[in-house]
Amino acid sequence: MAQDNESRMVSGHGQPGDDGTLDRALRPQTLDDLIGQDKIRDNLRILIQASRSRGEALDHILIYGPPGLGKTTLSHVIGHEMGANVRVTSGPAIERAGDLAAILTNLRKGDILFIDEIHRLNRIVEEVLYPAMEDYALDIVIGKGPSARSVRLKLPPMTVIGATTRLASITAPLRARFGAQYRVDFYPLDAMEMIVARAARLLNTPIEPAALTDVARRARGTPRVALRLLKRVRDYAQVKADGTISPELATEALTLMDVDPLGLDDLDRRVLYTIIQKFNGGPVGLETIAASISEESDTIMDVVEPYLLQLGFLDRTPRGRIATQRAYEHLKIPYTPPAQPSLL
Ligand SMILES: Nc1ncnc2c1ncn2[C@@H]1O[C@H](COP(=O)(O)OP(=O)(O)O)[C@@H](O)[C@H]1O
Ligand SMILES: [Mg+2]
Repeated sequence: MAQDNESRMVSGHGQPGDDGTLDRALRPQTLDDLIGQDKIRDNLRILIQASRSRGEALDHILIYGPPGLGKTTLSHVIGHEMGANVRVTSGPAIERAGDLAAILTNLRKGDILFIDEIHRLNRIVEEVLYPAMEDYALDIVIGKGPSARSVRLKLPPMTVIGATTRLASITAPLRARFGAQYRVDFYPLDAMEMIVARAARLLNTPIEPAALTDVARRARGTPRVALRLLKRVRDYAQVKADGTISPELATEALTLMDVDPLGLDDLDRRVLYTIIQKFNGGPVGLETIAASISEESDTIMDVVEPYLLQLGFLDRTPRGRIATQRAYEHLKIPYTPPAQPSLL
């Protein structure tokens, strides 16, 4: 049966339990609050300073990368640093050209329009966005048939920030309209530890250093996962002990959640087992993998694959995915190198 991705402990996607005041308190507000992503931060500082000193709206910004790494957070931080209002919407929420026109005409000078999942905008809506981004203009058609004519409305200077997990699904003309493009990456262990430490402090939860490292290591380089694991471990420590998170309690709780020491969960392992056991280690196409474990290929592409690639457990080849020797070792399956294709 297909597992609901939204309920995965290690899913980078937001989940119902993630919301609320706790998460707002944990979300960094300023560039200085942000942990890691140094290159993006340095770039943003310059971009923001330059546009402020010129008194202009910020260049349009595209942020892409797997879920849970801080795209939405960055957008709000940019808004905060610019002293700008952030109007939040998403690709699927804007169904018709008129919806976007209404949003655009309500923006004020310097406002930021954050469009999440921007790869899911439909073509007709996208066409409205082009002149808005390029010339701060909105073209509306008045009348029908031969007498129809197009009128151009001026919009105030504003900034579009687009976020996406799928850079490849963004059309070339849309992508070309973003002056700045940033890729958010999985966080290294030291940054993850700092994120867990900061959150534990904000949650008033005592945590021993080894426990902190364990939570950080199993959070698959993803801040959202780290926060979720920390909260669950904290509950566990409160119920089973005096609330202090010791290494033993952390390991116990995380094992109970079926998150292994590298952060792989059942779905990750099923993907790897399928490639290795059903398809001899690959190469096998993504759709085939998805079908054989009854899972959405989107889920595999967005949340499973990026992390397995990052770990070096998967290789992407033109003929499909291949499980690497490291993946075999992690699953403790004896490795047999793939037969070289015959040259004859
Ligand atoms: N650089 C960071 N430093 C500290 N916490 C972060 C950072 N990036 C993200 N987070 C935390 O992780 C959570 C998920 O980030 P979010 O911006 O919603 O990810 P995305 O939009 O990429 O899916 C946020 O609630 C935030 O608290
Ligand atoms: Mg987001």
